[in-house]
Amino acid sequence: MSGPVPVRLTVNGVEHQLEVEPRRLLVHALRDDLDLTGTHVGCDTSNCGACTIHLDGKAVKSCTILAVQAEGAEVTTVEGLGTESQLHAVQEAFWNDHGLQCGYCTPGMIMAAAGLLAESPDPTEGEVRHALEGNLCRCTGYHNIVKAVLSAAKTKAPTIGAQS
Ligand code: FES
Ligand code: FES
Repeated sequence: MSGPVPVRLTVNGVEHQLEVEPRRLLVHALRDDLDLTGTHVGCDTSNCGACTIHLDGKAVKSCTILAVQAEGAEVTTVEGLGTESQLHAVQEAFWNDHGLQCGYCTPGMIMAAAGLLAESPDPTEGEVRHALEGNLCRCTGYHNIVKAVLSAAKTKAPTIGAQS
């Protein structure tokens, strides 16, 4: 069995050098090594989307990637999307449109939605629903989540998309 290997990552604009087991998932490196617990684990089997982050600007499920595969990458987690004083447009819209209840799915939903709007700034409702198909929510029935994403698109805020 091989031991830990070095991985260099830039997360939310800060460069990190980690030593990780080759089989360590990126989500666990983010949560346990970097203490970025805003990225949630709902399943570990790529079904729920709670672990969605941006990897080099694309929304991906961080439980589907080994930390070593992210060598040299730019990662944005929900902690890096906006700031307390200036929320990202999607965060603001989730707040205004009640796009969450228990909040467990919310970081992943927000990262997936921000990824969609970065690629497609004016999506239809169908496109929003399609883009969020890989993100499960047990509470909201999705209606207010979709509404929030559509209203974030309407704001045309300059903060659309990850900061990475
Ligand atoms: S924890 Fe990654 S998809 Fe569920
Ligand atoms: S708000 Fe509870 S799982 Fe989505």
